[in-house]
Amino acid sequence: MYLESLRLIHFKNYKKIELSFSPQINCFLGSNGSGKTNLLDAIYYLSFTKSAEQTQDIQCIQHENDFFSLQGKYALSDKIKTVFCAFQQGKKKQIKLDEKAYQRHAEHIGRFPAVLIAPNDTDVIRGSSEDRRRFFDGIIAQANKAYLNNLMAYQRVLKQRNRLLKQFAENEPFDATLLETYTDQLITLGTHIYEARHAFLKDFEPLLIEHYATLSDEQEPIGITYESHHQGDIHEAFAASLQKDRILKRTNRGIHRDEFHFEMKERLIKNYGSQGQQKSYLIALKMANFHYLKTQMEVKPLLLLDDIFDKLDDQRIEKLLTMVASDAFGQIFITDARPERSKTHFGKLQQKHRFFRVVDGCVEEEKEG
Ligand SMILES: Nc1ncnc2c1ncn2[C@@H]1O[C@H](COP(=O)(O)OP(=O)(O)OP(=O)(O)O)[C@@H](O)[C@H]1O
Ligand SMILES: [Mg+2]
Repeated sequence: MYLESLRLIHFKNYKKIELSFSPQINCFLGSNGSGKTNLLDAIYYLSFTKSAEQTQDIQCIQHENDFFSLQGKYALSDKIKTVFCAFQQGKKKQIKLDEKAYQRHAEHIGRFPAVLIAPNDTDVIRGSSEDRRRFFDGIIAQANKAYLNNLMAYQRVLKQRNRLLKQFAENEPFDATLLETYTDQLITLGTHIYEARHAFLKDFEPLLIEHYATLSDEQEPIGITYESHHQGDIHEAFAASLQKDRILKRTNRGIHRDEFHFEMKERLIKNYGSQGQQKSYLIALKMANFHYLKTQMEVKPLLLLDDIFDKLDDQRIEKLLTMVASDAFGQIFITDARPERSKTHFGKLQQKHRFFRVVDGCVEEEKEG
């Protein structure tokens, strides 16, 4: 699968552009603020039905306009599939595949898988446990729809249980039986989710370790430790936490409190790792993400690399470029504010590559020679 062409209308700093791409390597080159990341974001949007950067669609509309639209044509074996996303101020957004609107946007996720590596992704490493759960949930859910359904059901029941705890605190009589029905549902759904996360990590962790070792030349050992209330007796854990739940008016046990510890030399990388090591860990996580999806979905996701060179030393950059230029990867989009670096590296490669010069919301292909 690859993105053959892309059209943007009134998306961020783009008025209207149409581009066609190489099935292998595509580089967006240009100075700060020219619109390189915005192009990657448009591609990300077509895969995930939302921007990686903005939480609100309205922020993606080019200033002084009231809508944006994106269209991507994907080559899939011998067919072309067209994905269309549009948003108009005050209206519901539209997502269409070959002119047909989806009933639920969630159905689209995973059809055109993509993996983005971007500078502010370090939240996964430096942020809260919720950031790490969201990261892994996103990967597992793309490959496993039952997981997504269980997760959504769990969130619903959790909300209901928390609402009930609040009602008890606001002088409604305590109803142990009603609370227990919610607890039981959380335990049943939570067990499925816990088992899926556990199974996922068994496949994922070796991929992570392998990619980190390549990037770092095996300089420092790394790993993930998974911690969940489900590792003990979960019924007992809920029972023991009942008083605390009632006082705090929320549920303190369950998979919504799972933690994934990212470690380097058996210490937390967020406290202990240097910026370059954290960045390497992040890249290894995303590479593992890519290979996991590739195996599960039997298609190579698009790889979107935004500003990945920053903070890495020359040796790690070289390793990274060699890694992504191998046949293990499919189509790649990469941004660089220092055009010469990318041109020197990618220019030497066998893979078909195209360079695009981005200047203030305009894009022109650079011909070599
Ligand atoms: N809704 C919008 N309407 C118009 N312009 C926008 C909108 N959203 C963002 N921009 C503009 O897009 C530009 C940023 O583009 P982008 O983040 O793609 O730059 P970049 O080329 O990746 O830069 P850098 O090298 O610094 O990462 C900014 O100048 C910003 O003002
Ligand atoms: Mg950028």
